[in-house]
Amino acid sequence: MKLLVLGSAAGGGSPQWNCNSEVSKAVRRQDEGTSIRTQSSIAVTSDGESWFLFNASPDLGSQIFKNHQMHPKKDLRHSPIKGVVLTNGDVDHVAGLLSLRERQDLSIYAHPRVHSVLKQNSIFNVLNPDYVDRRDMEMNKEFQLKDKDGKFTGLSIEAFEVSGKIALWLEDESKGKNFGTEEGDTIGLKISSVEDKKSFFYIPACAKMTDDLRARLYGSKLVLFDGTLWVNDEMENSKVGQKTGQRMGHMNNSGPDGSMAAFEDIEVERKIFIHINTTNPILLPNSSERREVENNGWEVSFDGMEIEI
Ligand code: MLT
Ligand code: MN
Repeated sequence: MKLLVLGSAAGGGSPQWNCNSEVSKAVRRQDEGTSIRTQSSIAVTSDGESWFLFNASPDLGSQIFKNHQMHPKKDLRHSPIKGVVLTNGDVDHVAGLLSLRERQDLSIYAHPRVHSVLKQNSIFNVLNPDYVDRRDMEMNKEFQLKDKDGKFTGLSIEAFEVSGKIALWLEDESKGKNFGTEEGDTIGLKISSVEDKKSFFYIPACAKMTDDLRARLYGSKLVLFDGTLWVNDEMENSKVGQKTGQRMGHMNNSGPDGSMAAFEDIEVERKIFIHINTTNPILLPNSSERREVENNGWEVSFDGMEIEI
């Protein structure tokens, strides 16, 4: 099984179009060791031919262009991309669906909650149902991903609910302090190759480590985990916003309540931060925060990162 990081940044990317904070500026200056990171998505294949996207970012067009694995290979109309699996309804994870029109066979898997909000938004009807099959995912049950024609692709997934938040554009203040969040608004995925049973976890958003999640992850070979912020009040510290990580549904990387501490007693071979916000100092190659992350056995993902599992 191969995994390709199409976009390693959180919503907005890095640099973010309207951001002048340290990381965005360093990336624009092309400081050594920095790189442009597009918005959150990975692609996975088990046979090297058929790929599934996990989330579809607003940058999908350029991500496909930059990665030859995603290019059409045969016939006048072709794509190695057979479908998309969504982990939530965030703009950075669904807006790329709009770039996947043009009468191409696809199957889109999501939690029924996410499918229902996409259905309410008629702009997503550009995904013509004659070509694009929208399939509900059952939670906590492994199943094989199939292409539009029902052919197995060699990949299987198990989706599970994690602590998180309803998509920003669906927040409803009248519904109290969780803004109308329901189970299933944020999910994590175990992605496996059917043939050799190898697997990894992809969890680009997670607000809290729970006993259930800890037990799932224990003993795994690879986890790609929510790396959005270094500290909970980073947006305020960087003077670019007021929202905390918790308010946005993300655990911070550092500190006693952070993800690095939470993973300390979970045996995982390889741990990689993904969905990293442009305010996060781990994106700067010489920062003390980057050193701390690496000293703790974590890696920082980058666009184009390839992993053979
Ligand atoms: C998030 O991950 O918190 C969201 O993508 C925020 C957003 O929609 O900008
Ligand atoms: Mn996001």
